[in-house]
Amino acid sequence: MKEKNKHTNPEPGTSRRRFLKKVWGVLGIIAGVEVLAISAGFFSPSKRNVTNGSRNIVEAGNVGDFKLNSVFPFRSGKFYLVRLSDGGFLAVSLKCSHLGCSVLWNEDKKEFICPCHASSFDLVGKVINPPAPRPLDTFPVKIEQGIVKVDINNPQRRNNFNKDQVVYA
Ligand code: FES
Repeated sequence: MKEKNKHTNPEPGTSRRRFLKKVWGVLGIIAGVEVLAISAGFFSPSKRNVTNGSRNIVEAGNVGDFKLNSVFPFRSGKFYLVRLSDGGFLAVSLKCSHLGCSVLWNEDKKEFICPCHASSFDLVGKVINPPAPRPLDTFPVKIEQGIVKVDINNPQRRNNFNKDQVVYA
């Protein structure tokens, strides 16, 4: 009789231990799958960099939304959209041309200032103070049906600023 009870009524806590073992097993499998997925994503080229599709085109807004002589940050796109006093648009990279820190727009000084080594740049991204060796990169801007669009696929390195870099509606 005692023997029968031993098999039919497991020790208290036995079923809980089994349950926890199963839970840990399932969690282990999930973690393994996630590691594989992350590794696959890391070693394969990102879609963002491969495609020229609309995925990397930032629709900044309507032309009329941007005041003249103003700077509008698009941090997720890593650029500032600049509207010049003549109505033209320029998308300048927020990456400093020295060592790549993020530049900040200073509204009072009307300059982009790098917090790392104090380079500064004017409204169109030209160097005011070194050590930055060249202007801030730009991104291609298109205006379609009154919408300002910035192609963040291809930052454009430049050695000077010229009017051809400015886009008009
Ligand atoms: Fe900007 Fe050095 S990284 S000045």
